[in-house]
Amino acid sequence: MKERLDKFISSQTALSRRDAGKAIRGKRVTVGGEVCCAVDAKVDPDADRITLDGQALTYQKNVYYLLNKPAGVVSATEDSAERTVIDLIPPDLRRDGIFPAGRLDKDTTGLLILTDDGEYAHRMLSPKKHVDKTYVATLDREPDASIGDAFQKGITLSDGTVCQPGQAVCRGNHRAEVTIHEGKYHQVKRMFAALGYKVVALERIRIGALSLDDSLGHGEIRPLTKAEAMQVFDTKPEPY
Ligand code: URA
Repeated sequence: MKERLDKFISSQTALSRRDAGKAIRGKRVTVGGEVCCAVDAKVDPDADRITLDGQALTYQKNVYYLLNKPAGVVSATEDSAERTVIDLIPPDLRRDGIFPAGRLDKDTTGLLILTDDGEYAHRMLSPKKHVDKTYVATLDREPDASIGDAFQKGITLSDGTVCQPGQAVCRGNHRAEVTIHEGKYHQVKRMFAALGYKVVALERIRIGALSLDDSLGHGEIRPLTKAEAMQVFDTKPEPY
């Protein structure tokens, strides 16, 4: 589908629409090998080769970012009182329409995907699609190995809600690695509460086969290629 050149440039770069217009008028943009100075030229991003300052813009319709969420920020696009995960996006990666694909509690850390692709987020979050989300929970005491069976059977929360079967493996130092594919409110904390444990720290380490990068510090973000983003729909490695 054709779209305006200035709109396309600003959707694929950190330039605002206005700055994209300036770049076009300043002869910094080519379309199909020819300099194009018309901000309203209609281009087909799938078919036209478009460059800015000599660099080809590889067309990606949507953006996918991997955030290592720190504690203390909320998983929302805006909040009148709290810092949000959107506030953590560096200026060169800001785009309109980005939102967190799912929620982590304010005190939960780890893997959160930010995207402007609603269909992708819906598919990832739907319990029917069975996308595994894996967490490391640090508990108030050493968990008993029987948590594995309890998660596998399906835990009933204190309000009577029955959770779908999940997996839990003891990891030492009061920690358990837990995999579930639903996203009920405070689900992991409430599942452990139903078994008599308190979660004192919670980190999401994996969605599907997409793991949190060790290199990404708390609060850091890196763009994912579409292929990386799609790894959430692949089966994760079995827990060892
Ligand atoms: N389960 C929780 O209890 N909290 C989260 O943030 C995510 C899963």
